[in-house]
Amino acid sequence: MEFNCPSLLILTLVVLFSSILVSNSVFGKTTTTHCEFAAVFNFGDSNSDTGGLSAAFGQAPPPHGETYFHAPAGRYCDGRLVIDFIAGSLGLPYLSAYLDSVGSNFTHGANFATAGSTIRPQNTTLHQSGFSPISLNVQWYEFNDFHRRSQIFRNQGGVFMKLLPKAEDFSRALYTFDIGQNDLTAGYFLNMSTDQVRAYVPDVLGQFQSVIKNIYNQGGRSFWIHNTGPVGCLPYIMDRLPITAGQVDKAGCSGPFNDVAQYFNVKLKETLVRLRMDLPMAAITYVDVYSVKYSLISQATKHGFVHPLQACCGHGGKYNYNKHIGCGGKKTVHGKEILVGKPCKDPSVMINWDGVHFTEAANKWIFDQIVDGSFSDPPIPLHMACHRRPPH
Ligand SMILES: *[C@@H]1O[C@H](CO)[C@@H](O)[C@H](O)[C@H]1NC(C)=O
Ligand SMILES: *[C@@H]1O[C@H](CO)[C@@H](O)[C@H](O)[C@H]1NC(C)=O
Ligand SMILES: *[C@@H]1O[C@H](CO)[C@@H](O)[C@H](O)[C@H]1NC(C)=O
Repeated sequence: MEFNCPSLLILTLVVLFSSILVSNSVFGKTTTTHCEFAAVFNFGDSNSDTGGLSAAFGQAPPPHGETYFHAPAGRYCDGRLVIDFIAGSLGLPYLSAYLDSVGSNFTHGANFATAGSTIRPQNTTLHQSGFSPISLNVQWYEFNDFHRRSQIFRNQGGVFMKLLPKAEDFSRALYTFDIGQNDLTAGYFLNMSTDQVRAYVPDVLGQFQSVIKNIYNQGGRSFWIHNTGPVGCLPYIMDRLPITAGQVDKAGCSGPFNDVAQYFNVKLKETLVRLRMDLPMAAITYVDVYSVKYSLISQATKHGFVHPLQACCGHGGKYNYNKHIGCGGKKTVHGKEILVGKPCKDPSVMINWDGVHFTEAANKWIFDQIVDGSFSDPPIPLHMACHRRPPH
């Protein structure tokens, strides 16, 4: 190409450059800064459940919620979860659980996660195995129904205008995912070997991929996907699934279970590479929360925490965890009910809350590590997750 006029060259470069910027953002805007997400739609398990399981299967008992909400708030935590910090940081209210039919406000999103959810539907009941019947495919049905019906009602006007998202907000929303951990533990609790669990990971991720495609086909464009954490460092795994001394890793965690989690994460990352090719308009950000959580647990003291492998709220044993008496659990002694699943004195220096979930303090710390994109692939911060590539 030849230019005989420098201003034409500059103009051409400007046009070229801005078209690159346009194609970089799934919102089709030239902005390279914040995405201004109108809503967050979350899919997941207890790591991000803000009231789903509680609404349908019984409220998480006190002392859950004590630190921040000062009462049970549908979360398996003493306070806020990573998803709460995500919503807050985007300037949006905390997400109402889709299943919460009282007091919910879905103007800026909805939360489909329930504690105990898996990606694949389980063949056992909640009562038998502890896994939620609201698996990821069901969360998708709920989202699909919500998308359609919210618009029918919004068009009727009145109070619905103040409770439901606008039609255009579905493509201007951030779709967040934190799910997979229970798909792995479901196999362990059925006494499968770690090789048997590995063998079904491709099936799990195949089902995960279908849900992302379904949401994309309904206009979803920005996806923020957490990988699965070091489940082998959680008291409920270490207590219930004993290993040999040689299998303990350098942080004191169960090596084999962490290996499977890392295998799942490698396969998840590969799945997302394929999805980016199949869904050319999608911005898909993979977030390595595994590394963040592992570094918190293995270097607890350095980060201002103590007893990384013990639950704050629990009862007895090496890990202050007892599968029969959970956090908030009571025992009848001489005809009197007494609380034995008691919280520790200072949850703000503990990492693990109840043997399965993280404390609010840990969740805040985890959020602070991931918000700026340091653990994202591509390296995109939360506020720029509508971009397919890091903005320059
Ligand atoms: C449940 O059973 C069906 C039919 O046997 C099987 O295809 C599916 O993989 C099972 N699901 C799980 C999570 O094991
Ligand atoms: C729901 O939340 C939005 C945004 O925070 C607010 O503008 C609206 O008034 C709320 N709706 C109701 C009925 O309170
Ligand atoms: C797994 O093995 C343990 C110990 O042998 C046994 O008590 C339990 O019933 C088994 N669980 C299943 C689901 O087979």
